[in-house]
Amino acid sequence: MTTTVQPATAEPDQLLLAIESSCDETAAAVIDRSLAIRSNIVASQVELHAEFGGVVPEIASRAHLSNILPVLERALAEAGVTLQDITAVAVVTQPGLVGSLLVGLTAAKAICLAHDVPLVPVHHIEAHLYACRMFAGRDVYPAVGLVVSGGHTSLYDCRGPIDSELLGSTIDDAAGEAFDKVAQLLELGYPGGPHIERTARAGDADAIRLPRPLLSEPGLDFSFSGLKTAVRYQVHGVPGTGRTPPEMTDNRTANLAASFQAAVIDCLVQRCRRALNQTGHSQLLVGGGVAANQSLRIALAELCEQEHVDLWVAPPELCTDNAAMGALGWERLDAGHTADLDVDVTPGLLRRR
Ligand code: KG4
Ligand code: ZN
Repeated sequence: MTTTVQPATAEPDQLLLAIESSCDETAAAVIDRSLAIRSNIVASQVELHAEFGGVVPEIASRAHLSNILPVLERALAEAGVTLQDITAVAVVTQPGLVGSLLVGLTAAKAICLAHDVPLVPVHHIEAHLYACRMFAGRDVYPAVGLVVSGGHTSLYDCRGPIDSELLGSTIDDAAGEAFDKVAQLLELGYPGGPHIERTARAGDADAIRLPRPLLSEPGLDFSFSGLKTAVRYQVHGVPGTGRTPPEMTDNRTANLAASFQAAVIDCLVQRCRRALNQTGHSQLLVGGGVAANQSLRIALAELCEQEHVDLWVAPPELCTDNAAMGALGWERLDAGHTADLDVDVTPGLLRRR
């Protein structure tokens, strides 16, 4: 009897569906095993939160609810696939706004239940840093990771893509939040970062001396709320002194924007230098919306040149919140880090995982 040996069929291309809803962007992406992004859809809520000068959690959850299905449908359609083609679903479960996280997680659970595919929980901050790995196209670990956004300002010791330890974080406002609040004080618009950056170009960063909170303290934590208050005093005067501050001309606004931006950058750069020296790592990964800031990028590039360190900053579309960075889910899937369907969200930032 002869047996016919069937030629081995090529493994069908495995596809990960990634979902992100930790803050105010509803996002879904399809990424293949080679980390090629087949689709990357982001529904921004910026306009809904603009009049409040920051993200309003209740509004964010409601907007996620109405956005999640259309965003998922578009992500699948643009990738030219259906849910039947999906190997696993990666979803951000921490950290973030609890109501926002729950929308993405619930959608992910429903898909996993209906299609019997694994559910892969993803850590939002590790995903931000993984965007640098995706951009680099090669291994970038071990590294120091800085995530600097509207919701987070944290430094990590990244031993690998899913093995990171929190080294320090902000004890009050995130850097992006400070950009947003200062832009509101200067009446520049929301989100504040790009407005401050643009306005600062016409200003003198040495014109107004602003504090660098915690800079003379040991450790790797950040603080930006005192800096924001210092700008408020420059604009509205120090309460109880009865002294009227100088008039807010265009020139003074530009000088304040430039001085504020320089103060934030000094704090971020000094902490990165300290984290690099402390860990001995020779790579620095930077993610989050504030990483779009050109002056910050220049300052970090100078730091890395001085310290002989490779700097990896993802392009803006992978820096700001997106689902493609959830490709980190492949690493977790391969490590067996899947979850049962009763898994919950973890809104806070954990010092050790
Ligand atoms: O990562 P992201 O899109 O969302 C989260 O907050 O998670 O970051 C948004 C933040 C906002 O606070 C925004 O003001 C800030 O990033 N941002 C910038 C710039 N572009 C965005 N901050 C400084 N300079 C920029 N060019
Ligand atoms: Zn983020």
